[in-house]
Amino acid sequence: MSRKTILITGVSKGIGKALAIQFASQGYDIIGFGRDIHAVEALFSDIEQRYGARCLALAGDLSDPNSLKKIFESAFEFAPKIDILINNAGVGSFDQFVNLPDSAWQSMIDVNIKGPAWCTREILPSMIKYKDGIVVNISSICGLRGYEECSAYCATKFAIVGLSESLAKEIAPFNISVYTVCPDIVDTDFASGRNAQLTDPARMLTPQEVANFVYKLSSKRPRSQICSLHLHPLSMVLFRFGMVRRSTWSKRIRWI
Ligand SMILES: NC(=O)c1ccc[n+]([C@@H]2O[C@H](COP(=O)([O-])OP(=O)(O)OC[C@H]3O[C@@H](n4cnc5c(N)ncnc54)[C@H](OP(=O)(O)O)[C@@H]3O)[C@@H](O)[C@H]2O)c1
Repeated sequence: MSRKTILITGVSKGIGKALAIQFASQGYDIIGFGRDIHAVEALFSDIEQRYGARCLALAGDLSDPNSLKKIFESAFEFAPKIDILINNAGVGSFDQFVNLPDSAWQSMIDVNIKGPAWCTREILPSMIKYKDGIVVNISSICGLRGYEECSAYCATKFAIVGLSESLAKEIAPFNISVYTVCPDIVDTDFASGRNAQLTDPARMLTPQEVANFVYKLSSKRPRSQICSLHLHPLSMVLFRFGMVRRSTWSKRIRWI
């Protein structure tokens, strides 16, 4: 059976890095990018040695459409068929609504909304041609609920939920699935520096847990269409009673 290829945005660290390791360990070839090319190259060199995966490391900025065009040209030279796209890269600025500068709004709109939209637009013609493909958009619990000092970030993460649900309906006839994944707080650089109570490691998901669920979601094509996967750490109470699973999840299923 031929190897499958996955393209992940924002693989230099955090959830993206864990996703690259998870899929490579299961036999996938990996294409990934971020602005920090040295971090991406170091990760991919390690992955190639450990798992024998073919990897393509690219430097790119999601907020720059020209950079994205070049990334997808190189990606399709490397692998004419890309089976899965994971729109993972994201940024967040957190402050009172009235204090959040225009530049922070612009950056979140560019990276969290336009970035995934443009990447999906680049890859869809090929997926439609092969009548096969999966797009996974990493939203957040902030794409489901509002939180104080989180208005702009929540707005962008709600937007990606709407984009995913609409697109899923539009491209289902081409055998392409679109999933949204909404994790609670995850123990990465992104979460560090935020409310100390919220970022107690025992109460956070790990990047590996998120990667594991995303792998389970996208490695098998269920007969039902899963719209979104919500990931939450189990509460401390459950830990006290000796439950071993650290995370729980729920899904919304849409019949098509
Ligand atoms: N951590 C959480 O609590 C949490 C919870 C729910 C959802 N999420 C979402 O999960 C995703 C990953 O977050 P994370 O926690 O792994 O964050 P992270 O550790 O800060 O990593 C973010 C990744 O995005 C890349 N990135 C940022 N801006 C970029 C740009 N302009 N162009 C290309 N790549 C860019 C970064 O790479 P470079 O710096 O090399 O560009 C990095 O690889 C995000 O969409 C985030 O919103 C996070």
